[in-house]
Amino acid sequence: MGGGGNGKEKWKVGPTKKRGSQQQQQKQSAKKAPSSRKEHTAATAAANERRKEDEIERIDLSESGKSISLDVQQLLLNVFKHGLFSSSSTSTNEDSERLEDGEEKNISTQIQQLKTHLYNRDFESAFADASPSLLRAYALRWSASRSLAYCGLFRGVVDCALDLDSQAQDGEEENIGVLCIGGGAGAEIVALAGAWRVIQDESTRKTTDESPVEGVESLSLNETTSQKRKRRRMAVTAIDIAEWSDVVSRLTAAIHSPDVPGTKTCTAPLIQGQEDESIDISFQKMDVLSLSEEDLKSLLQPQRVISLMFTLNELFSTSISKTTQLLLRMTDIASPGTILVVVDSPGSYSTLSFAKNGSSEMQQRQYPMKFLLDHTLLSVAEGSWEKLVSQDSRWFRKDTNHKLHYNVDLEGGQGFIRLEDMRFQIHIYRRLPSSNRNE
Ligand SMILES: C[S@@+](CC[C@H](N)C(=O)[O-])C[C@H]1O[C@@H](n2cnc3c(N)ncnc32)[C@H](O)[C@@H]1O
Repeated sequence: MGGGGNGKEKWKVGPTKKRGSQQQQQKQSAKKAPSSRKEHTAATAAANERRKEDEIERIDLSESGKSISLDVQQLLLNVFKHGLFSSSSTSTNEDSERLEDGEEKNISTQIQQLKTHLYNRDFESAFADASPSLLRAYALRWSASRSLAYCGLFRGVVDCALDLDSQAQDGEEENIGVLCIGGGAGAEIVALAGAWRVIQDESTRKTTDESPVEGVESLSLNETTSQKRKRRRMAVTAIDIAEWSDVVSRLTAAIHSPDVPGTKTCTAPLIQGQEDESIDISFQKMDVLSLSEEDLKSLLQPQRVISLMFTLNELFSTSISKTTQLLLRMTDIASPGTILVVVDSPGSYSTLSFAKNGSSEMQQRQYPMKFLLDHTLLSVAEGSWEKLVSQDSRWFRKDTNHKLHYNVDLEGGQGFIRLEDMRFQIHIYRRLPSSNRNE
């Protein structure tokens, strides 16, 4: 299976790498606004420098990204195409196949529809009120390329979470629970399966490299290997306000299907489903902003990793106060060591409307998502979280040599879905053992 880095030490949590001090930043931002073009360029450079100063990268995401070979990426794309694109799907239900044939011709129109909804920030029409075929079109168009970017990120994060769990006694099962809030569209699920496959393959390779090849000794070492690997299981729970169950069950089947075309170094199925490397995937349709305390507890408590990929800003847009409450309740419930991953468009902001000085006149103020997040987790819940990664703008660039194929044909030979580069902000936090907000 596909290469890249081998030692997981490379993306263990390292010391905080922060370039520059806050004082320096404040001094710089106090400088006068630029008047000439030259000054403007200098100001842009200074702003870029300030942005870098703000960056923290204690998990080496570049290195974990490199561990996802093109062969692995191709298999992830094949899972999407095989699972969601009707003509390559293995669906046996004749009625639904007939329906899908009609729908398939509409995928291009549906993608245009979705683009309009997203442009208008009409998330209800795009997701919560969307038909199953609109959701499937979304996943084909957006989730597939996102999963390539997420796979490397999750590889680093899961490795970091496994490190924490390594106190597990010999023979004990090592469970890692991952909750993907707003994760029904499947990008996180397929990416996590890919990351899990890479981790398992590397661990097998490492143990095989270390073991002698011949005789009884090799047999006994193989036993040890399988015992070691038996200890790891991943349970992925995706929750979403929209009805993504059809997309999730199709992708889950494709993740485990030997019929998906494999690649030279990454054979299908993506996940074998054997006990020692299996992952459990489940989906629950729910509004995360309206959960009872009890439901939230049972959802959050077993998790080692919680992700909010391109979802937090949507939640803030729905309600800043409910989303802030959610983050604070998460702080209270999450066990020490829980890792929270937030990815969103760079520069996302939300608008808060409030009454001016108690009068009936309403005012609006815009807050960057990052500000709301940091303020809640690091100021209101001070001492509860540490920041492992913070980057305002990171790129995932698709393969430039055109080796990846995603031939999802929209209109009988024209209009293939193109893979895209992706730019995002990323913030990763870890729950500290020490303080509980309520103490
Ligand atoms: C922009 S999509 C992102 C999908 C996916 N996480 C990704 O990164 O590709 C946002 C998702 O958040 C979900 N969502 C929005 N509000 C939600 C809520 N209150 N509770 C649960 N899910 C919600 C939407 O239905 C949608 O699937």
